Amino acid sequence: MDFRSITEFLSNKTILVTGVTGFIAKILVEKILRVQPNVKKLYLLVRPRDAQAADVRVQDEVLGMELFKVLKENLGTNFEAFMSEKISVVAGDISYENLGVTTDQMKDMYKRIDIVINVAATTKFDERYDIALGVNTLGARNVVKFAKTCANIQLLIHVSTAFVCGEKKGLIFESPYAMGETLNGVNGLDIDYEKKLAEQTLSNLKAKDLPEKEIRLMMQNLGNQRAKHYGWPNTYVFTKAMGEMLVGHFRGNLPVVIMRPTIVCSTLKEPFPGWVEGCRTIDSVAVTYGKGILSIFPIDRNMVFDLIPADMFVNSIIVAMKTHVRIPCLTIYQVGTSYRNPVTFKELHDIHYHYFTNNPWSNGEGNPVIIRKCLVLNNIQIFEIILFILLFATRMGLSDLQRTLFNFDKKLKKAMKLVNLYKPYLFFNSIFVDTNTENLIKTARENGLDEDVFNFDPLCINWKDYFINIHIPSIVKYLF
Ligand SMILES: NC(=O)c1ccc[n+]([C@@H]2O[C@H](COP(=O)([O-])OP(=O)(O)OC[C@H]3O[C@@H](n4cnc5c(N)ncnc54)[C@H](OP(=O)(O)O)[C@@H]3O)[C@@H](O)[C@H]2O)c1
Repeated sequence: MDFRSITEFLSNKTILVTGVTGFIAKILVEKILRVQPNVKKLYLLVRPRDAQAADVRVQDEVLGMELFKVLKENLGTNFEAFMSEKISVVAGDISYENLGVTTDQMKDMYKRIDIVINVAATTKFDERYDIALGVNTLGARNVVKFAKTCANIQLLIHVSTAFVCGEKKGLIFESPYAMGETLNGVNGLDIDYEKKLAEQTLSNLKAKDLPEKEIRLMMQNLGNQRAKHYGWPNTYVFTKAMGEMLVGHFRGNLPVVIMRPTIVCSTLKEPFPGWVEGCRTIDSVAVTYGKGILSIFPIDRNMVFDLIPADMFVNSIIVAMKTHVRIPCLTIYQVGTSYRNPVTFKELHDIHYHYFTNNPWSNGEGNPVIIRKCLVLNNIQIFEIILFILLFATRMGLSDLQRTLFNFDKKLKKAMKLVNLYKPYLFFNSIFVDTNTENLIKTARENGLDEDVFNFDPLCINWKDYFINIHIPSIVKYLF
């Protein structure tokens, strides 16, 4: 297979992409349009929301973003005409069986689509069970079923997450899930039953006329309970794992690639270094640290963080597309860095300390926030005991002690919220083996891949340089 022609491969292709108002899919869309202006058509499936039509959302939340500035500069006054020729916005919702698309639009799409890329998901760790099941699990099934009905379909790419492995320790391999497989050996995981359970619980709660907030909380708890029952730490990764099961189960002869990125962070290089959106996982820790909110943290300081810059992940999707198109398969790619270019919490902490000491963030009154090294606790129970003592001390009026560590109440609550949300990942001693991904880049490289444009080799990342010169300045710019 000749990888010199990778951009040619995109030429004349019609691709349906879901999730484009989100962080990752819009980087993918931008990249395809920039490297191959001769792509035939991109169907972007977007939910209309809060009375905002899907096409208005694409204008505001996709094309209007700074992410598209390079393409705008390249195309000049042709930008709008180019976009209206290449992009077709489809109002839809993957939690519906026909993706919620009108029959008219469907007719058109069925004939034209070559490739489907399902990036849509609800990424909240503690989402309501009915919603997470609807999007991450049944939504994945709906997309496969839709793809199979497209007359000229050549490939489905489904974006999952490396964290479908739950809290497994050690080396995590790129293996598929069997239908009904669980992480703790508890038998009986039946997705149809989970669907009925969520529907029934919701309708019982509604029948009781409970306030919406209470219903939400109870449905969130249900997701959490079901996830824990079968060995997953939260609703998000549990429903994503079940999504993978359904993709595998319903694919038939359709070529399917499941991409499992680890933690996707700001762009390394394209369309410019440091594009990031939405404060998630590691970024929320960095933001709270840089703002001086966080100075005590329970974590294994030697734990390896697995991060992958978003543009590198997008490159891996495009190279996987070229590799698997029209070849029946179910291939999984874990796209991360922990196996071949690991970076530990201790290293990251030193880098952040160094950065914020030299470039302190200025608070609302224009005063630089002085940060200190985090007190890192290797034990979550000790952390909880310290918090308890701090709370007790406050109640007893011993607030000086507390201030030295937390600068008090609001900050304390924020830190607690963060710790609770990420608890399963604070002592997460697993490494994501990426043999398939390594082979993908190796084969592509040996066959003429232009690595300047499509690189995703983790070995190219210099973590210190990336964090000091790209990632931290970008989160300060976009997220502080
Ligand atoms: N970001 C990461 O670090 C990371 C790491 C591992 C895996 N992933 C996976 O990568 C994918 C993209 O992540 P992201 O960070 O870009 O997520 P994101 O920013 O939260 O975006 C999610 C996208 O999915 C759309 N969506 C949600 N429910 C939908 C539905 N019912 N129908 C159609 N679209 C729907 C959202 O649309 P609305 O705007 O309408 O809500 C949004 O466009 C997800 O599958 C996620 O599991 C992400």
